[in-house]
Amino acid sequence: MNWTRFRILDFEVLAVPVLHDNFIYLVCHNGEAVLIDAGEAKPVFTTLEKENLQLLDILITHSHHDHVGGCRAIVDRQGVQSTSPGVASAEFPVLGTVCRSISTPGHMAVHKIYCFPELGILFTGDTLINGACGRLLGGTAEQLFDSLQRIKTLPDETRVFGGHDYLADNMEFALSIAPDNAEMQARLDLYRKDPAAAIFATLAEEKKTNPFLRVDTVREFAELRRRKDRF
Ligand SMILES: [Fe+2]
Repeated sequence: MNWTRFRILDFEVLAVPVLHDNFIYLVCHNGEAVLIDAGEAKPVFTTLEKENLQLLDILITHSHHDHVGGCRAIVDRQGVQSTSPGVASAEFPVLGTVCRSISTPGHMAVHKIYCFPELGILFTGDTLINGACGRLLGGTAEQLFDSLQRIKTLPDETRVFGGHDYLADNMEFALSIAPDNAEMQARLDLYRKDPAAAIFATLAEEKKTNPFLRVDTVREFAELRRRKDRF
């Protein structure tokens, strides 16, 4: 998959595939950019050069190597700082807009997601991976369920950018739970024609097709997560 470019007002989001199936993201405005996650450095350097962008900051969702492996090289070469997922939830100005970091433990004990409310975009790392959620690798089912509930309170039109391209597998799992769900099938069909359009859905679309947003209790959530681990 190539880069995907989303235009939002006079901002752009570039979704850059790195490593085997990760995404990193650049939010760009007036020649400046912030990076969300840094699994690999080289594609970041290439993108910054090609797009003539100055990097201001790196926002890290969580400390798994496929999200931070390129961070040190980028910090050293670009002379920027990175924002650790360990800092407290906060709202801060960036690129002439506002970014809100929200604590969403569960995939790991420490995990942040980054919301740009004025732009209606949300970067969810491995908390909400489009069409599903991350595994429990350090956090608890209660934490991850609560974190997903928190995400569900954001506006429905919010566009969601997760940490991986797992959509085909995620929709196949979703359909194994709800075989007659036409919206899940349509999202899977769309993925085969236009992967980016299917992956980077709105929260409203996620609520219809992501089984982990469709359970009401921690108990159901934990059972679903166990089933996905075995899928
Ligand atoms: Fe992860």
